[in-house]
Amino acid sequence: MMIRRAIALALAGAWLLSAQTPEYTSDNRLKLPAKYREWIFLSSGLGMTYGMAQRPDPAFDNVFVAPSAYREFQATGHWPEKTMFILEVRSSATHGSINRAGHYQSDVLAVEAGVKDSVRCGAEKWKYFDFAGVRDNPAVTSAGFPNGSACWMCHSKNGAVENTFVQFYPTLLYVARRFGTFKPSYDPKAQANPHVVSQLAK
Ligand code: HEC
Repeated sequence: MMIRRAIALALAGAWLLSAQTPEYTSDNRLKLPAKYREWIFLSSGLGMTYGMAQRPDPAFDNVFVAPSAYREFQATGHWPEKTMFILEVRSSATHGSINRAGHYQSDVLAVEAGVKDSVRCGAEKWKYFDFAGVRDNPAVTSAGFPNGSACWMCHSKNGAVENTFVQFYPTLLYVARRFGTFKPSYDPKAQANPHVVSQLAK
C-alpha cells in the first residue's frame, strides 16, 4: 500500500514538473499548459498599452510563471532554460451584481506565452507564442512567432531582466535588485512607482 502510494506520488511529481516546462507536438507546436492558472501569479496589469489603441474597457493582463522557474529566480535572480510564462488577457467589466465602481475580470481575450529555449531559438533565447482560438479550444497549440518578431523586439529592448518585464512584477523587482541582474540598459530610477524608486535607491 505504502509502495503504491509512493509510486503515485512520484508519478504526480514527475507530471507536475514536466507540465512546468514547454511541451511540443510532433510538428513543433507548443501545447498550452493545461494548469497554468495553478502557477505563480505575478501581476495583473490593468489597461496597459504599449502602442496599440486602448479598448473602451481596460483589459487585465494576468501574468503567470511556472513554479520551478519562479523558485530558481528567487534563488539566483536569473531565469533557467525552459522557463515558461503565460500572459492571459481578460476583458474587464463593471456595474455587475453589487458592483458600483471599479472593474473586475471577465472573458479571456487572448493567451500568449514566452519561453526561454536557446536550443530552439539560438541567440535570441526567448520565443513568443499566441494561442489564437483558445476561447473555444483550451487544448490549442501554437507554432510561435519566428525570430525577430515584434514581440521579441519589444521584450528584448524594454524588459528589465533579460526579456522579461520584471519592472512590472513587484514581487520580483527586489529579487533582481538583490542579485544585480537588471540588464545594463535598464534604469531602475525610471521605475514609475515612487515607492519602488525610493526602495531601489537604498
Ligand atoms: C511594445 C512592447 C511589447 C510587445 C510588442 C509585446 N509585449 Fe509582451 N509584454 C509587454 C509588457 C510591458 C509586459 C508586462 C506585463 C503587462 O502587460 O502587464 C508584457 C508581458 C508579456 C508576457 C509575460 C512575461 C514577460 O515577458 O514579462 C508574455 C508571455 C508576453 N508579454 C508575450 C508577448 C507576445 C506573444 C507578444 C507578441 C505577439 C508580445 N508579448 C508583444 C510588452 C510588449
